[in-house]
Amino acid sequence: MSPIKKIDQLTERDGLPKQLCELLNKYPRDTWTKDTLNGNWVGFWLGRHSVFREICNSLKHIINQLLDGSISHQNFMQQYIHLMNMMLHNLDSHHAVEDNYIFPKFHQKSEKFRYGLELLENDHHLIHQSIDILTSEGNKIITTFNEKKDIDHKLLIGGYSKVNDDFDKLLIAHLHDEEDLLIPLVSEYGEEYFGLGH
Ligand SMILES: [Fe+2]
Ligand SMILES: [Fe+2]
Repeated sequence: MSPIKKIDQLTERDGLPKQLCELLNKYPRDTWTKDTLNGNWVGFWLGRHSVFREICNSLKHIINQLLDGSISHQNFMQQYIHLMNMMLHNLDSHHAVEDNYIFPKFHQKSEKFRYGLELLENDHHLIHQSIDILTSEGNKIITTFNEKKDIDHKLLIGGYSKVNDDFDKLLIAHLHDEEDLLIPLVSEYGEEYFGLGH
């Protein structure tokens, strides 16, 4: 595995590094065909990405509702625990499948883009570090609400909202870059070439 350059880290970069954009330039997002997007594997995989985007939106929504006082602490906690469990469970399995099954298939067949696959695998570590911080901060809110501690709730939730924004930014950027690397590869060679989509 090559070391990931600092400027290419998920926390630093803005989109896929230029040297990995050769196929993306040939197949930009607005040219991705229905055939490719609905392929057996791509269709399923993008469906998983949609789930993460939806959970992120729902989390943002309930945090904003809590900030403007339109939901109760009880209601927030119920939805928050449900959404975070869903996020943790799905993200763990999604990343495990990508790291152990999907990326190796692309790795074998696309020497030029190996650095990109290593970059994505490294993103997974950074996302997990960020979600660890998010869950520990979230647990503080739950404890505060449960114990009805007398502290400034607005300040506490505002701080949590920022931690959530950091996580959200990383995850959404990762999903986007991952699609920008892999979908052009599938557009060029097809799912079967990589042993996917059966
Ligand atoms: Fe990923
Ligand atoms: Fe993914």
